[in-house]
Amino acid sequence: MKYKEGMLRDEALKDKVIVITGGGTGLGRSMGEYFLRLGAKLVITSRKIEVLEKTAAEMMASHGSEVLPVACDVRHYDQVEQLLSKTLAHYGKADVVLNNAAGNFISPTERLSPNAFDAVIDIVLKGSKNVTLAFGKHWIENKQTDKCFLNIVTTYAWTGSSFVVPSAMAKAGVLAMTRSLAVEWAKYGIRSNAIAPGPFPTKGAWSRLLPGNLQEKLDLAKQVPLKRAGEHQELANLAAYMVSDFAAYMNGEVVTLDGAEWLQDAGQLNFLDVLTPEHWDYLASLSKPKGS
Ligand code: HXC
Ligand code: NAP
Repeated sequence: MKYKEGMLRDEALKDKVIVITGGGTGLGRSMGEYFLRLGAKLVITSRKIEVLEKTAAEMMASHGSEVLPVACDVRHYDQVEQLLSKTLAHYGKADVVLNNAAGNFISPTERLSPNAFDAVIDIVLKGSKNVTLAFGKHWIENKQTDKCFLNIVTTYAWTGSSFVVPSAMAKAGVLAMTRSLAVEWAKYGIRSNAIAPGPFPTKGAWSRLLPGNLQEKLDLAKQVPLKRAGEHQELANLAAYMVSDFAAYMNGEVVTLDGAEWLQDAGQLNFLDVLTPEHWDYLASLSKPKGS
């Protein structure tokens, strides 16, 4: 199985300038590492400049290409405008925006303060809106084409989910934005797509979704029909394709990469998976017409 290997050919992203929010950690970092291997130049951004600088130094040491760390809290539009200015000052252009920054924690909804609700919605929904608006306006005003947004959502953007209601609401909004702008901004040569990852181990997500000893008690991989969590490289492969010119006709799409996790509880008869071959033989003997 080759899913732990890079998929695209060398230089598939040559000279593309890719801005990754939340690019200093977790999945944002993993996607960025692969984009660099394919010839891209990066801007990585989040709130913590010391994390970004360390990641950028390690990335440049490994790949020899350019990585610009920029502190930016995506909740604030003025900081996002500065992110755009710094990107243009350094590289002269931006080609791809990866809206990946997020905040999340689990809680019964009735226990949330209004401020706790806003903490998640402001990062995910308002933050993705701020970055999209700033870069989109720039591309449109300057008649720059062949640009794209890639937004990281979740499968509960369309199913909803208990205990992560602010995140589900915000990701649903990001998905609506993705599909809306795919049509509205297509005429400007701007594509908008999304990926809905299933469980991919990261410190940021798993320490908040499974705090304390929940990680030992609940194995997220067991919820997945393929019985494993995702490998960062397989997400990076998909993301690299979707932001590359090879995906020039893909627009308004959300690609699920979750081993069928979200469908697990959806199919009405999926629960029959507990039956053994002997059970199936017995049931067949009851229900099949005699002689067939
Ligand atoms: C209830 C909580 C809480 C918790 C914080 N709050 N944590 N309420 N349960 N666990 C409340 C606080 O009491 C406060 O409300 C309000 O939220 C804001 O808290 P702050 O700490 O001031 O917020 P802030 O510094 O902005 O931090 C935001 C954060 C934090 C979301 C709370 O976790 C963060 O920075 N996260 C970034 C990284 C992250 O979450 N990564 C995971 C993405 S994973 P009051 O009323 O007291 O002022 C993901 C996976 C999806 O999205 C799906 C996986 C399958
Ligand atoms: P992560 O490492 O915690 O990534 C979240 C990033 O967002 C961090 O780098 C964080 O950096 C940044 N961030 C948070 N608030 C910000 C703000 N206000 N402004 C700018 N940056 C901010 O978690 P992850 O698992 O890699 O998550 C990455 C993406 O994948 C998220 O969109 C998440 O919803 C999605 N996802 C993950 C999983 C999974 O299983 N891991 C599943 C489905 C979807 P700072 O703290 O420095 O700001």
